[in-house]
Amino acid sequence: MINILDKTFVPFISRQSIENRVLELSAMISKDYEGRCPLFLVVLNGAFLFAGELVKHIPLTCEITFIRLSSYSQTESTGKVKEIIGLDNNIENRDIIIIEDIVDTGLTIAQLLKQIEDKKPKSVEIATLLHKPEALKTPVAMRYIGFEIENKFVVGYGLDYDGIGRNLDSIYVLA
Ligand code: IMP
Repeated sequence: MINILDKTFVPFISRQSIENRVLELSAMISKDYEGRCPLFLVVLNGAFLFAGELVKHIPLTCEITFIRLSSYSQTESTGKVKEIIGLDNNIENRDIIIIEDIVDTGLTIAQLLKQIEDKKPKSVEIATLLHKPEALKTPVAMRYIGFEIENKFVVGYGLDYDGIGRNLDSIYVLA
């Protein structure tokens, strides 16, 4: 059990389970993109640890870049999405893999996808560590999903509660 600010969280997904699952996703991506040079778009801040672990085990020639979007205020989604910050690469005709920490309502990723698709990439797929299927408000096709979880607030392994908890090496759920 851990306390972050005013809330209590309990262990949910262990470090070992995350590492095992991430290895599986790395293997899937390596196989699917063999002979291609994908461009990974890592959505900051939450996806930094997941992305690091994921790409470490992908032996492809690839590019990795980091973008930022708006995020949560406390534990409730605002539904508002800012513009993409940091997308300097020309993505026309590229194979894009977006790396996200979590797809909750899907509103963030849906808007991001739309903006990416406007730039005419060859393909776009999503790799997300976590997904809350019950929370989804708009259909989003996710090719690589680490774990489908119930609709509860989680922290750790990149995910934060009001800025805190990203450095935890496993995932905790609100008690
Ligand atoms: P969506 O637009 O509702 O899918 O929200 C996406 C973003 O909200 C994620 O990239 C996270 O930054 C944040 N988020 C959603 N659920 C959680 C959670 O349980 N813990 C921490 N952050 C979350």
